[in-house]
Amino acid sequence: MRVLSVVGARPNFMKAAPLVRLLHARPNEFPHLLVHTGQHYDARMSESFFDDLKIPAPDVNLEVGSGSHAETTGRVMIAIEPVMAEFRPDLVVVFGDVNSTMAAAITAKKLNVAVAHVEAGLRSLDRSMPEEINRLCTDAIADLLFTTDRIAGENLLREGHPADHIHFVGNLMIDTLVAFRDAAAAMRMTDRLGLVPGGFATLTLHRPSNVDDADTLRGILEAIAELGAEMPILFPVHPRTRKRIADFGLDRFLGGEGRENGIRPVEPLGYLEFLSLNMSARLALTDSGGIQEETTVLGVPCVTLRKNTERPITVLEGTNRLVGSSPKRIRAGIAEALAGASTPRRPELWDGHAAERVMAVLERDR
Ligand code: UD1
Repeated sequence: MRVLSVVGARPNFMKAAPLVRLLHARPNEFPHLLVHTGQHYDARMSESFFDDLKIPAPDVNLEVGSGSHAETTGRVMIAIEPVMAEFRPDLVVVFGDVNSTMAAAITAKKLNVAVAHVEAGLRSLDRSMPEEINRLCTDAIADLLFTTDRIAGENLLREGHPADHIHFVGNLMIDTLVAFRDAAAAMRMTDRLGLVPGGFATLTLHRPSNVDDADTLRGILEAIAELGAEMPILFPVHPRTRKRIADFGLDRFLGGEGRENGIRPVEPLGYLEFLSLNMSARLALTDSGGIQEETTVLGVPCVTLRKNTERPITVLEGTNRLVGSSPKRIRAGIAEALAGASTPRRPELWDGHAAERVMAVLERDR
């Protein structure tokens, strides 16, 4: 079975890594081509992940770069079509919900190539979110739907997908966390940054709905700066967010060095560096999808600055709570998270073996 896997943006890399490793171990049965679309291109947003996750550099980089949604999607489709035509895969594997995911899936199907979607069936039910459109479009045409939890499977059944297209395999991103947990701990990031384990928070922000509007972003930073009076908040800043903070003149909310309290901005961190920090954080504040899942497995309270989530299992069984973007609710959510003593459950099949279950399905279809 000739397999072409497509990655494009930061959150794809840790989902692809465990499967790429297994495919590469069996080159005769599964000739494999790893394509990077280049949607993310800064070394800290892309290259460092291949080093950290010990996966080979992509065989092909399409270098599409950033742009509007239509530009990114269109460029990926145009650039990947000849690569698919030349490699002639039997299966194209796409991951998650970024623009590259949807673009590659559509291109493959129009070449009559089967598509597998890893992390299928997640739904925020919020169609103003670009990722929700990517999820809906990708799942609508994918042949193999690999899900992380039972809720995702129910979503797909409700949308009319045949049960035999849906494979509940667990969470490939958690495979990566399990595999690299010890290596992350060995980085001793708290020592390097002068932080006390259990005495600091982490913060990530990049959703357009949070960072593209000046009033919203100001409100968020104001509320979080209050927590910053109590403990340091380590803030690896996404390039898009860095631009907005500068454009809106909000730099006054950032500061703090060494052991100091306050919101402490740093460049985007590598996978192991950030995992190392989250493992010993008192609290994580985020609008990312993946961090909601990672903190659930780490048992670290997570305050998600969104109104909804496509990952409700992290609220039902894990450590996550949704607070939206209003300063009042952010303050209340932080207070509850710090006070609460929850006993999170690790969701079913988030056990480090999801990629092996994907391989078992591919093996059966080979
Ligand atoms: C993308 C994904 C989002 C994911 C996020 C993780 C889509 C629709 N969105 O959002 O789901 O959570 O990645 O990071 O695919 N930029 C750089 N260097 C880079 C990449 C981006 O400077 O390596 C800047 C560019 O100015 C760009 C902006 O960041 O315009 C946004 O990047 P883009 O890929 O459009 O979307 P993200 O916000 O990163």
